Parts: sequence; structure tokens; C-alpha cells
Amino acid sequence: MTTPRKPVRRMAAEDLRSHRWFGAQDLRAFGHRSRTMQIGLVREDFVGKPVIGIVNTWSDINPCHTHLRERAEQVKRGVWQAGGYPVELPAITLAETIQKPTTMMYRNLLAMETEELLRSYPIDGVVLLGGCDKTTPALVMGATSMGLPTIFLPAGPMLTARWRGQTLGSGSDQWKFWDERRAGRITAEEHAEVEGSIARSHGTCMTMGTASTMAAVCEALGVSLPGSCSIPAPDSGHMRMAGECGKRIVEMVWEDLRLEHILTPQAFDNAATTLMANGGSTNALIHLVAMAGRAGVDFPLERFNAISARTPVLANVRPVGQAYLMEDFHYAGGLPALLAQLKDLLHLDSLNCNGRTLGENLEGARIWNEDVIRTRDNPVKADGGLVVLKGNLAPDGAVIKTGAMDPRYLQHTGPALVFDDYNHMASLIDRDDLDVDENTVLVLRNAGPLGGPGMPEWGMMPLPRKLLLRGVKDMVRISDARMSGTSYGTCVLHVAPESWVGGPLALIRTGDTVTLDVPAQLLHVHLSDEELAERRSAWQPPPPRFARGYGKLVVQHIQQADKGCDFDFLTGTAPTAEPEIH
Ligand code: FES
Ligand code: MG
Repeated sequence: MTTPRKPVRRMAAEDLRSHRWFGAQDLRAFGHRSRTMQIGLVREDFVGKPVIGIVNTWSDINPCHTHLRERAEQVKRGVWQAGGYPVELPAITLAETIQKPTTMMYRNLLAMETEELLRSYPIDGVVLLGGCDKTTPALVMGATSMGLPTIFLPAGPMLTARWRGQTLGSGSDQWKFWDERRAGRITAEEHAEVEGSIARSHGTCMTMGTASTMAAVCEALGVSLPGSCSIPAPDSGHMRMAGECGKRIVEMVWEDLRLEHILTPQAFDNAATTLMANGGSTNALIHLVAMAGRAGVDFPLERFNAISARTPVLANVRPVGQAYLMEDFHYAGGLPALLAQLKDLLHLDSLNCNGRTLGENLEGARIWNEDVIRTRDNPVKADGGLVVLKGNLAPDGAVIKTGAMDPRYLQHTGPALVFDDYNHMASLIDRDDLDVDENTVLVLRNAGPLGGPGMPEWGMMPLPRKLLLRGVKDMVRISDARMSGTSYGTCVLHVAPESWVGGPLALIRTGDTVTLDVPAQLLHVHLSDEELAERRSAWQPPPPRFARGYGKLVVQHIQQADKGCDFDFLTGTAPTAEPEIH
């Protein structure tokens, strides 16, 4: 085990990055200081102090981030108390349930914005405020490329929802009750009641969806303060945590503790172990690969299989767990309690942003409810919930969440029913004459990074209505799409290369035989290499979709899912110059 790099120096005021703006005696510095005094500050308020950027993804349109306006003020209070100068930097919000075609299309835009905000202003350290799904990797990716001392404060999950005595989980129950309505088992009025009950407070989805998964991943990486990832958004503890982030980031600047000291290969192993032990979202595989790429850490998809095989699922939180939600997880001890069960699988000498090692931070952590956070001898599932598949249908990989599927499909061979795109699927799926049964393999193409575009969360295709009415609850589904972290079912996702660029998914036809063999990590279409080559030579690439604008940038630079969908010019650690002071 390699010991992580540790910072050695203590910064002086003249060493601060912001000194170039505020500390110099020249014409430009005069302008920087006088226009900062225009805010109503005196020199002593900001000159010679760490300038702390608070990148805030608050917006009226993002219900998961409603409280972040208030939290920014609490972070500022902590920064002032610790002797820093806080500046709030608003950034684009990625509201998962509202933005179209998908927030994933804009993850890299927020990452770029974060990096350039930090680079172009006199920022010495940064607190990142966000949490709604893609927001988290975007903020951390941008901050990683900039490389300053950084703390991520997750927005925190919303409170547990209830309806007619039942507990409702974000996403998971949205899908479930829609199926109930399509099958005629609940009325439109009852469905409207669920609609008004399922999101009870501000905060992120309270299942172990992408938001909760990525918050846990960031805490395990060391980018968030210990215990922060599961604090419910409206809890007073969340307000106190915001103040703590403000205090700590000032000290981190003086210690010169930067992300390069924290985001080591060992930290990414810890993050992947946490992902598996939480039964977390498939989206995290894409994000972790992209985040590692920014940190200069080689983290190929295959690494997840090795970690998944040795890591039990201990978080009994929906959708992989049956009963509980994030509020329960928090009261049961949160992530430190879970990680304390896995010490033998973690690199305990990895550094956290609080300046202590993971091992030090786990001292004294214990579980308060052993049904919510399981002990090693009583796991929810013996191995991790995610498996990377390969084969002639996915030469560069695909992903399946085994923890959330019917085990009867772990090894399955059946005929394909192929849909050319989402609208094609939606127009046929409820027809009574659809030629389909529970052995059919549903295939959706043109839903990948370029085909979607933005790789929408269409991977949990709805089950055909005629089968729903017969009580069928799961089928094998294959696509180059993603699926929500709150989804479930036998859904093979992220097929790479995607069909839009001519991957084998573009070549498969209705009636071809497909094999899914999860123990063998295989996704195979029963076609000869010659037949595939013949079909490929007849394949026509689709016409370009964007003539200008951000979409054109995406088309030109986005990488495939196995590379984390980062833009090719953003990945890696090649330095970008500091702005000249003129
Ligand atoms: Fe924002 Fe789920 S919609 S976290
Ligand atoms: Mg989601």
C-alpha cells in the first residue's frame, strides 16, 4: 500500500494565489482592491486572507437545491469566523427531473464552468454546493482540474415521504405507481395523491440513487467532511456542517492541502468499494471513471468487477435494499458506520479534507441499527451490486446492476425485440399485438452519449403492457442508455461503443438471439463475425444532429461511456496556465 502524498508546507499570506490580485502594489491591484471596497469592505476584510469561492448551484428551478442559498450564507459565516474572505460564485444548475434532454449532457459544461470560475478569479480555496445527480461529479471534476484546496458539501437527501401509511421512495415508487396505474390497479385520483406526497422536502432523492451514491463516493474519496453525505437537507445538522465546511476550508488553504493530495489511486479504490457496499447507482461508474481521468488516475471499467466481487452490500437502502431510505441510513450511523465494517477492504491511510486519514476518521464509528446498516456477517448481498459485461454486443463494456434484478435472468438467452429509438419503443410498448413474452430481450438503441443525445436515463424500458397485466415484473432489457439510480430490473446499460457510432447495437435485428450471462460477465449476440461485418458494411451513420452551439461541442468531443463521457480536451492533468495579471 502506497502512502498518499502529504502536504509539507504552511502558506504565508504572500503565497496565496489571491495575493497576485490583492496584495501587489501596482495599477491593477489598485483596481482590484478599490472595486472590492466598493462592496462595502475595508482592506483588512480581504487583503492577506484566503479568498474562498463558494460555487453554488442553487436555482429556483432545482427543488433538490432549494436550501443552498441559505447554506451558502452558513458557509460564509464559517469562512469569516476562520479569517477568510468568502465569495459566492453562482453556477449552472442541473435539475435532474426538469432539464431536457438530460442533465448528463450538461455535466461537462458545469465542470468547465467550475474550473474556469476558479481559474479566472482570485480564489484560494473552494466549497462546492450541489448534490442533484450529475451536479456532484461535475463540480468535483472542475475543481480537480483546477486543483485548489476543495471541500464538497452535498445538498443532503430529502425527508422520508409517506402516503396512506406507506413509505415512498424517490424515483423507485414513481416507476412502481406508474406501472400500477397502467395496469389499472390504482385510480387516477390515488395516483395524483402519490404525486403530491412523494417529494416531501427540499433535498436530493432519498433512495440510494445517483445523488446519494455520489455523495457517499465523495465522502469516501475524502472530498467531503466525514459524516456529511447523509445529513437530511432540512436538518439543523446540515446547517452546522455548512459552517464547518467554511471554517475548515480556510485552514486547508493555509495547510496547502489540495485535491492532488487526496485524489490518489487508493482514494478511488475506496470510492468504488463504497459504491458497491451501498448498492449504489450505475451512473457512478461513468462518473468515477471521468473523475479519475481528471485526477490522472487510471481507473478502467474492469477495476469495478474486482472490487464488486470482494465487497458485500451492507446498506439496506432502496432500491437494492428492500426497506429503508437515506434518513434511516443517517440515523443508523451514516457512512462512517458502514465503512467501519469494511476496514480490511479500504486504504485507511488515505487523506480526508479534514486533514486526518480515513482510518483516524473511522475510529469510534458504530452502527445504531443493524437492519439498516448491516454487519459483515449479515449482508444484504454477499457481493457488490454492479457487474461490467463484455462480448460481441458490447466490445468496450456494458453495466448491469445485479442487486436490483430478478435472479432468474442472471443467465438468460432469448430473442431480441429491437426498437430504433425511444419514440419507436414508446409507440409500440403498450400495443396488445406486440410479439413479446417474458423471455424476449428488449433492445433500445440510439440512446447513448451521442444518440440520446446525452445518454438519457431510458435504460429501464417500461415492460410491455400486455405482460404487466399478466403480472410480469421483470425482463432483460439492453441499451446504450443509462438508468436512474432509483430504477430496478434486469437492465443492461451503457453498451459501448453506442449504436449511434456504429457499435454492434446498431446491427442487431428483431429475432436475433441474445445471451446475457452475468457470472461469465458476457453479453453476446449469436451472430458470426462474418454476419456482423456484412451488416456493418451496410450500416449508414445518422446525419449530424447539431449544426452549431453547445450540442456541436458535445458531438465533437464527448467520449464513450467506458471513458466516462468526459470531453476529450478536458480529461487528463495537463496544466492550464494561470491567467496573466494585466
Ligand atoms: Fe435531484 Fe434526484 S432529482 S437528486
Ligand atoms: Mg436520478
